[in-house]
Amino acid sequence: MTSSRPFDKPIPKSPEKPFPIVTGLCDIVSGFGRGSAELGIPTANIPIEQVPEAARDLEQGVYFGYARIESIKREERTEPRDNHRDVEYNYGKYLEPSNGDFDVLPVVFSIGLNPFYHNKHRTIELHLIHKFTRDFYGAQLKFNILGYIRPELDYATKEALIDDINKDIIIAKRVLQTDEYRYFMEQVM
Ligand SMILES: Cc1cc2nc3c(=O)[nH]c(=O)nc-3n(C[C@H](O)[C@H](O)[C@H](O)COP(=O)(O)O)c2cc1C
Repeated sequence: MTSSRPFDKPIPKSPEKPFPIVTGLCDIVSGFGRGSAELGIPTANIPIEQVPEAARDLEQGVYFGYARIESIKREERTEPRDNHRDVEYNYGKYLEPSNGDFDVLPVVFSIGLNPFYHNKHRTIELHLIHKFTRDFYGAQLKFNILGYIRPELDYATKEALIDDINKDIIIAKRVLQTDEYRYFMEQVM
């Protein structure tokens, strides 16, 4: 089954109920590893039980907000992953303040089952709109949810999914530049 992207609902001038929703610091864990490898769009996966109930209750879909990363001082370790490359948990050790890696960053993310990949459990996967030079599994991330972009869809091809995520990124960047949304950057500081 393939759905095509519906007309995007207009995004309000400022966040409307139930937004904003803000999280505490959440752990960045490994997903299935397809985000970077297959889509070229790396995502930070967050354990769903670490986000506030209001966020878990949201309808499946694509959302936007701001996020900020914190590294943790801990010994690096490697975790084997089924059918994929091992994951290096470095807890954010190689992130660079001078590269803006710890700044408050715009973020787009999906909450749901990734119909394209037929996941069985709900996941939250964030794509931070920023050029990182290293992975940061094990680091922590605080984020807020300021609005909804579209439902999660199934796609005929990987390329169609990538195209839509790129559209989401453009939409989120545009909205998050306005004063009404920038105001909420401080929630994640
Ligand atoms: C902004 C954004 C939008 C997404 N939209 C969809 C979608 O509409 N349908 C879908 O199946 N997956 C969607 N995804 C999830 C991707 O399929 C997912 O990030 C990818 O499977 C990588 O997951 P992994 O890191 O667990 O391997 C979206 C992800 C992001 C960050």
